[in-house]
Amino acid sequence: MKIEGKTVLVTGANRGIGQALVAEALSRGAARVYAGTRQPLAHPDARVTPLNLDVTDAAQIRAAAESVESLDILVNNAGIALYDDLSERAALEQHLAVNLFGTYGVTQAFLPLLTGSQGAIVNNVSTMALAPFPFTPAYAISKAAAFNLTQSLRALLAGRGVRVHAVLTGPTDTDMTRGFDIPKASPASVARGIFDGVENGEEDIFPDPMSASIADSWRNGAVKAMERENAAFVAAEPTAA
Ligand SMILES: NC(=O)c1ccc[n+]([C@@H]2O[C@H](COP(=O)([O-])OP(=O)(O)OC[C@H]3O[C@@H](n4cnc5c(N)ncnc54)[C@H](OP(=O)(O)O)[C@@H]3O)[C@@H](O)[C@H]2O)c1
Repeated sequence: MKIEGKTVLVTGANRGIGQALVAEALSRGAARVYAGTRQPLAHPDARVTPLNLDVTDAAQIRAAAESVESLDILVNNAGIALYDDLSERAALEQHLAVNLFGTYGVTQAFLPLLTGSQGAIVNNVSTMALAPFPFTPAYAISKAAAFNLTQSLRALLAGRGVRVHAVLTGPTDTDMTRGFDIPKASPASVARGIFDGVENGEEDIFPDPMSASIADSWRNGAVKAMERENAAFVAAEPTAA
């Protein structure tokens, strides 16, 4: 899957990794980039089409899907991360609404287009899907759920020719990690890593030095082997997703 000549949609496209993904898709020769944002966006490149898209708003998702004619690559990137300590159910619900159900809702809405193009879904998850950081447990739970969603969609959609990638992103220098004094990758380098992974057909993409350090053990590990064994049950006879 080359980015050149393709139509790409990025959610959360106005800042951070999403903004970098738009720039990287353009620099790789994407024909059209739909930039999903919650506020109006102006972009100097004529190949960028802004889309009003709050991923928790079913009407906006529907309207966005109706306004897009064809799509090759959907990047579910929009996300929130707030400090919590699991004492408030509302915090968990807030993270699930964006990071899990937002990803789910946008994916379902654009699935007919992606099936038609034999396209790809790219879910920007997090290494916290595998190991939580206990200052943001609700976030980690939502990312673990989004990763599991990604794994199931991968199995369910393989028979329809849609590839589904998980991005196990590590610390990246955006507003989301502003308060953490730790080594961080640049959003631009993470965006390159993500599209390199898509172009190389990597199911699970580790786009930065921190996440790359666990890539081999993940890919060769017992859990990945189990995912493949379980997926084989539906491979022969895909069901609706
Ligand atoms: N930064 C990291 O270290 C890191 C690590 C692993 C994974 N990730 C993941 O990477 C993705 C991008 O994160 P980032 O670091 O670029 O964060 P960011 O700079 O905080 O940007 C978050 C983006 O998501 C958008 N967003 C939030 N809620 C939304 C909603 N309901 N509907 C639509 N868009 C919404 C924001 O839009 P507004 O401007 O309107 O708020 C913004 O564009 C997230 O899924 C995050 O979990 C980040």
